[in-house]
Formats: sequence, structure tokens, C-alpha cells
Amino acid sequence: MIVTIDGPAGAGKSTAAKKLAARLGFQFLDTGAMYRVVTWACLEHRVDMQNPDAVANAARQVEIRFDGDRVFADGHEVTHEIRTIDVTHESRHIAGNVEVRSHLVELQRRMAQGRDVVSEGRDQGTVAFPHAECKFFITAEPRERAIRRQRELKARGEAVPLQELLDQIIQRDRRDEMREVGALKPAPDAITIDTSVISPTETLDRLERIVRERMTERSRSPDPLVRP
Ligand code: DC
Repeated sequence: MIVTIDGPAGAGKSTAAKKLAARLGFQFLDTGAMYRVVTWACLEHRVDMQNPDAVANAARQVEIRFDGDRVFADGHEVTHEIRTIDVTHESRHIAGNVEVRSHLVELQRRMAQGRDVVSEGRDQGTVAFPHAECKFFITAEPRERAIRRQRELKARGEAVPLQELLDQIIQRDRRDEMREVGALKPAPDAITIDTSVISPTETLDRLERIVRERMTERSRSPDPLVRP
């Protein structure tokens, strides 16, 4: 079974997706990490981010591997390196590259083949897995996301004004939503969950309940295509 979780940055979807996969015993696919690995590889090899062909080549060449929570690029662990501000910032060039997107979507489908997966990103329910059995769109008000981000940064000893974070979030959303391919939007059959108004535990419980309901429904109604 494929469960897709899409939504904007900072809505709490990564944590929810990871925990949901653990509760269900499904594999977790962090597609954002894949875009980050390509970004990291471009920075590492000094690829010109303004050159779409060079970026697409770099994407095709780098070998991306997951091992639990750990991420590897060409056999080198980059779990932490792909989370730097630099990588986050530069990833927009990678996410906007049509060829990179189609290559990574292909990889995502291969990784999910024959498995039970919770796949998290921006375009999982719309582009990568349009036939997924269960699709979610997890969102939260921009202001709420900015407050959460400010709290996270404060815990790390960084004080950033709320307005600055809010501006960044709005800008990033706009870029994600306006992208020509793989734009951030809910699939028509996705269930939207707004985490501004419910707690992380409630979010997780709701996700798990819906997936388990779908699993039961599926086991009760066999696929008409395979019926004699
Ligand atoms: O979710 P994240 O912050 O780790 O994502 C990193 C970058 O990749 C960000 O620029 C959004 C982009 N992304 C994407 O375009 N499509 C996905 N399926 C996942 C992430």
C-alpha cells in the first residue's frame, strides 16, 4: 500500500510521516532528502546551479541510498550535511529542474515498488503516486509555522524575528506552488489536515485511523480487475 503525505515546509508533515510509517510498519520515504542530496552533490562538485543541464547530469550521477534514518550519497554519509541552511536555500534550483524531478520521481517509484510505503514530499499524491490508496495533504497557517520555526531556532540559541521567518515561509510556499512541474497542491482525492488547530499526537492518530480504515476496506473488497 502507498500512503502519500504532501504539504508545505514546517507543517509538521515529516515528523508525522515518519511516526506514521513506524506505527504501520511501513517504509518511510523522505523525498525531500533526495532533492537535498542532489543539492549537496551540486555544491560539493561546484556545479553551476544556474545551468539546468549540468544540474540534471549531477542528479543522474549521484547514487542516493537510505539506511533507516541515515542518508548516503555515493556511499558517503550526508545525513547531517543535507540539512544545512545552504542546502535548504539552494535546493530551490534543484526542485525547479524538470529533468531532475522526472529522474527523482522515477527513483521514488522504484524504491516503493512492491512495498508498503509512507512517501512524504510535495508531489507524491499528484505526480509520483497518482494511484496511491491513501493521500494526505498536511498544512498549517503560515503564521503558526513561523512561530514553530522561531521556537525551534530559539532552542538552538538563534533569535530570529517572527516577521522575517513569516516572509521566508510565504516566499517558499509561493515558489513551491508556482512551480511548473511537481507544484505543491493537494491531489483531488487527498484528505487535508490542518495542524494549526490540532496537536501532533492528534494528527498522527487521525492519519493512522484513516490508513487502517482504508486497509480494512481494501481487504474486504477485492480488486475487481483480479476477480474471475
Ligand atoms: O521537505 P524538505 O524541506 O526536506 O525539501 C527539500 C527541498 O526539496 C525543498 O526545496 C522542497 C523540495 N521538494 C520537492 O520539490 N518535491 C518533493 N517531493 C520533496 C521536496
